[in-house]
Amino acid sequence: MQSMTTAVGSRFARYDSVWSASFDVPSYPALSQNLSADVVVVGAGIAGMSVAYHLAKAGRRVVVIDDGILAGGSTSRTTAHLSAAMDNSYGVVESRRGTENIKLAAQSHTAAIARIEQIAREEGIDCDFERLDGYLFLPPGGKIKTLTDELAAILRAGLPVERLARAPLDFFDTGPCILYPNQAQFHPLKYITGLAREVERTGRIFCGTHVDKIEGGKTAHVQSGRWTVHAGAVVVATNSPVNDRVFIHTKQAPYTTYVIGARIENGSVPRGLYWDMDDPYHYVRVHRIEDREVLIVGGADHKTGQADDTERRHARLEAWARKRFPMIEAVEFRWAGQVMESFDGLAFIGRNPGFQDNVYVVTGDTGMGMTHGTIAGMLITDLILGRENPWQALYDPSRKPLRAAGQFMKENANVAAQYVDWLAPGDEADVEEIAPGSGAVVRDGLKKHAVYRDAYGQIHTFSAVCPHLGCVVQWNPTEKTWDCPCHGSRFDKEGSVINGPSNQNLRKID
Ligand code: FES
Repeated sequence: MQSMTTAVGSRFARYDSVWSASFDVPSYPALSQNLSADVVVVGAGIAGMSVAYHLAKAGRRVVVIDDGILAGGSTSRTTAHLSAAMDNSYGVVESRRGTENIKLAAQSHTAAIARIEQIAREEGIDCDFERLDGYLFLPPGGKIKTLTDELAAILRAGLPVERLARAPLDFFDTGPCILYPNQAQFHPLKYITGLAREVERTGRIFCGTHVDKIEGGKTAHVQSGRWTVHAGAVVVATNSPVNDRVFIHTKQAPYTTYVIGARIENGSVPRGLYWDMDDPYHYVRVHRIEDREVLIVGGADHKTGQADDTERRHARLEAWARKRFPMIEAVEFRWAGQVMESFDGLAFIGRNPGFQDNVYVVTGDTGMGMTHGTIAGMLITDLILGRENPWQALYDPSRKPLRAAGQFMKENANVAAQYVDWLAPGDEADVEEIAPGSGAVVRDGLKKHAVYRDAYGQIHTFSAVCPHLGCVVQWNPTEKTWDCPCHGSRFDKEGSVINGPSNQNLRKID
């Protein structure tokens, strides 16, 4: 048994998600010709592939384009809870959108879980889909009224929740909790691979293909280098839209969240989804890889590009988990993801705000990317096919932050404050102080440079100005990326863009 444990540990222990470490997605060629299609989808994560799948099933010819690998962005970094629970709580979403809308939200997320289950069953996708219960509980010192208020809000939303004296964990007294029955979990990469297989029956998928330009209108098209795909409609499903410079990005804010995967004795933690109500909150589930179980624990969130202790966040998470889950043997996985928090706690799914017809967008996952992405598959397909959908107004990307004005103004004041970074000195006074494998922002007169020193001592210099709207990027020592504190654009250490809204790399400086 011990030798088996060591073998599994040595194979998987790394800075990577449980999903990427345990499953290889298929590869797809880059776009190398002009094409036409009924719909072109930009982004091959859960949202883009769900839209592509539903359209393909409706008989539409679909082309999917992604600049990375299949599901290589946020979908590979989720913890894949499939739940109707609201990340921001039903109480908060109700205060911003009203009771009728939280009913629709509860229905849509419940329907998304059922749709994933149905697709997995009908298409024969072996994605470890499993129904289980969810438990929401208070952090130490939390007020019972917070829990009872949330229980009342969830009941008003129409979900069959109930209060329990504690979650069914005999080693960890959670205190009173809310039971969400019949939630679910799955392996996201296995599921997306199954969707891709179905899309390919009538459509095409291209990876490693950066889209330079997206145009709507009667002759909608996307352009990548010298190749163009013409289509009746374009769906932008790039986590953070790369076709919109301002409008959507003032209504959502990027947060980085951290995850550990720890080996535990099989069967020592009852199957379930566990969430506390801390701020930031913790989220826990179990996943089996081969014959071993891994406890997946997430939390320790902060606004992207605005923390100087990213290297300590995983350690804090591990300390929190070890205190409550004493069966943890060794932490084998560490990774981080980015969540786009919308001003009212619900995603933006539908027609792209603006003048161009035939462009659709899905963003603002708000920590519920798996269900929001699946909702996008159903909703955007209905919009493109001209069918009624009961969730159209709920997720309308053009909606205004009426009752959520406070949150909207708070996040935008935070963005405005980031431009003050222009006046601050760099992280390091001198390039010589940057250690191998590390990066720093260095001031050069009136300019700021993002400087990375590779393992061989070679210096790579870029403008530290984010190509989106000009904020100064920050070095992230945990992920070894350049992160923009304004709207969440991220660039790898070589300056290549890996997350929008920027659609361009950092400018290289010789
Ligand atoms: Fe908007 Fe960088 S993401 S300025």
